Amino acid sequence: MAAAIQIRCLQTIGDREIQGLSDVLIDCVEGGASVSFMLPMSRAKAEAFWRSTAGSVARGERVVLAAEDTAGAIVGTAQVIVAQPENQPHRGDLAKMLVHRRARRQGVGAALLAAAERSALNAGKTLLVLDTASDDAERLYARHGWQRCGQIPNYALMPDGTPCPTTIFFKALGS
Ligand SMILES: CC(C)(COP(=O)(O)OP(=O)(O)OC[C@H]1O[C@@H](n2cnc3c(N)ncnc32)[C@H](O)[C@@H]1OP(=O)(O)O)[C@@H](O)C(=O)NCCC(=O)NCCS
Repeated sequence: MAAAIQIRCLQTIGDREIQGLSDVLIDCVEGGASVSFMLPMSRAKAEAFWRSTAGSVARGERVVLAAEDTAGAIVGTAQVIVAQPENQPHRGDLAKMLVHRRARRQGVGAALLAAAERSALNAGKTLLVLDTASDDAERLYARHGWQRCGQIPNYALMPDGTPCPTTIFFKALGS
């Protein structure tokens, strides 16, 4: 990873973090990533998402990680959703793995993934699950030992409205 990048677990998400996380989310959606949002991707939509996420962090439902450059600017993020049904206490979901286009292909995604797996283990999780519509992300997960389960056709829409499949992955942790 670029030596200057640090991964931080956000214990609280304040206005500064909401601005930086929104910058990353907007850039990813405008770059064509299928991550729940459609074009046009407004700042209001992004900020509303991160404010809701901040509440979820405060309730202990999820862990949010931020990759920051030397100036403290957020260039990437990932989440582990730890709150699960009572029959799945050992499982977490990996979600919203996002790296700003200007910071890609330097190992930031790999560092976020490793930190997310560590956070999940620290939270007592032994199984992580995710879905992705990104070929770049699929290669990242496969390289880090995630098992590809299969693809669901027409699962979601790309930001421009084109239907897209999603691919499910899992990883057993700590084995
Ligand atoms: C998927 C995503 C998170 C990957 O982030 P990233 O920071 O680019 O990931 P990495 O840098 O760890 O790896 C990306 C590539 O750069 C390469 N790389 C890493 N460090 C490098 C370096 N120092 N020099 C050259 N290449 C490098 C990796 O080998 C990898 O190569 P590959 O694409 O041929 O497999 C990013 O593309 C993204 O945010 N996409 C849009 C959002 C999205 O779809 N997220 C997935 C949701 S599940």
